[in-house]
Amino acid sequence: METTKRRKFLALATATLAGAAVAGCSTGGAGNTSSNSTPSKLLPPLDDSRILIAYFSVPETDDPNNMSDDEENSTHVVDGKVLGNTQYVAQIIEERTGAEVFRIETAEELPLDHETLENLALEQQEANERPKLKALIPNLEEYDTVFIGYPIWWYDLPMPMYTFLEEHDFSGKNIMLFSTHGGNRLSGTVETITDTLSDSTVISNALTISRDDMDDAEAEVVNWLDGLG
Ligand SMILES: Cc1cc2nc3c(=O)[nH]c(=O)nc-3n(C[C@H](O)[C@H](O)[C@H](O)COP(=O)(O)O)c2cc1C
Repeated sequence: METTKRRKFLALATATLAGAAVAGCSTGGAGNTSSNSTPSKLLPPLDDSRILIAYFSVPETDDPNNMSDDEENSTHVVDGKVLGNTQYVAQIIEERTGAEVFRIETAEELPLDHETLENLALEQQEANERPKLKALIPNLEEYDTVFIGYPIWWYDLPMPMYTFLEEHDFSGKNIMLFSTHGGNRLSGTVETITDTLSDSTVISNALTISRDDMDDAEAEVVNWLDGLG
């Protein structure tokens, strides 16, 4: 599907790549961890908190061999196992915090072919759909702090994330946001989530990591976590 949005996204992706080539991968603006300018709200130390990590991620293959460019873009291989980019970040947070993990999945399996997935995601966004989820968090009341992770899709949250946010009661909880992207960083998603979860404490210094920087993700995550707790 040829749309203005698609053209804008592809143009930006190409510009980012060109910038990375010139600057030897140090893109400064569009590459690394980000925090926006408003200070974080005060949070209790993570050590004292019961923590859950909930993430949405769609690795476009589970085969570590002979990946296409699109498949490589959407994955990070650890010890021969293919993870989605956001899934990989969730795994690092899990290792560092000992938190429990909930994977957000749609009831209907998503296509793994990149263009088919892009088209479906755009159709869902244009129709403001709320795709049904496979499951909800069964024991959300047990957690004080929830890390929520997602990729940027079409300059926004993937529509299943709206279902996820709207179908759970996060009131009174601390919400830590992390995201991966292909050039558009957080794309206003922190503001969207803050508005949607108006009875929660949503941190403003969300983590965002470019899919091109997955090799450095561990250091980025550790640095971010240090700044939170
Ligand atoms: C359907 C779709 C739409 C996307 N739209 C954007 C976008 O608008 N901006 C952007 O920076 N990256 C975009 N991306 C790239 C993803 O954000 C990026 O590859 C991310 O790391 C994927 O995370 P995952 O492997 O955890 O699913 C898109 C990817 C897909 C599959």
